[in-house]
Amino acid sequence: MAPSAAGSLAAVIGSLVLLVAGVSGARLPARGAVVRGTPLPRGGAPATAVFALGSFWRSEAAFGCLHGVIRTSVGYAGGSKANPEYRNLGDHAECVKVEYDPRLIHYKQLLDVFWASHDPREVFGQGPDVGNQYRSVIFTNGTIEARLAALSKEKEQAKDRSSVITTQIQPLGVFHHAEPEHQKFELKRKPFLLQLIGNLPEEELLTSTLAAKLNAYAAELCPANTQKRISSKIDEVAKKGWPILKEI
Ligand SMILES: *[C@@H]1O[C@H](CO)[C@@H](O)[C@H](O)[C@H]1NC(C)=O
Repeated sequence: MAPSAAGSLAAVIGSLVLLVAGVSGARLPARGAVVRGTPLPRGGAPATAVFALGSFWRSEAAFGCLHGVIRTSVGYAGGSKANPEYRNLGDHAECVKVEYDPRLIHYKQLLDVFWASHDPREVFGQGPDVGNQYRSVIFTNGTIEARLAALSKEKEQAKDRSSVITTQIQPLGVFHHAEPEHQKFELKRKPFLLQLIGNLPEEELLTSTLAAKLNAYAAELCPANTQKRISSKIDEVAKKGWPILKEI
């Protein structure tokens, strides 16, 4: 890459970092920190929540845009098979792991997003995704989470008694990370966006807050006003002369 092109690309990445920091209201991390994956918060341990709600490609995107979410990744849990793989996951469910700052977002809010992001009354899958791997599960860690999950399920059931909420609530056992090609899947479907953030290597895609947000944006799962703000920012950045666009 020519030095000027590298400079423009750095500017683009800088703008996107600003953009996402602005959108989320988060403090701006030091430059380079985002590109190397996002560090976990200081002074407050991150918390982890794991949910299964159908295809994990979409599940990951459903949580990526939330203020306070630090990292998202997808994997397999809830079964007993030792080394699950996408084409051979045994009795596991596809799930998303959400790492978040509990000072910024509460577990209850994650539960609200869980319920709103799929149809927990569907039996044996979600829409075209049919099978046990697409079942609805809240994986809990400890009695507080288990109680909050049970309460939220009761509330969801009370909305309509004519059908049954199929969601299971169970303690999280082992979470097996899915293969790299399934991480940030929605973002990877938009190579333009991937290039905008400098084609991060897989291990950085896994830990980057920016990538988690853009993954949600790619799936159009950020709030409408946020989608609009990111779109216009990307247009603006592209108009200013993104090197790859210039060469076309
Ligand atoms: C479960 O919660 C405890 C704190 O209550 C924490 O130390 C541990 O890392 C959590 N485990 C997972 C898998 O999130």
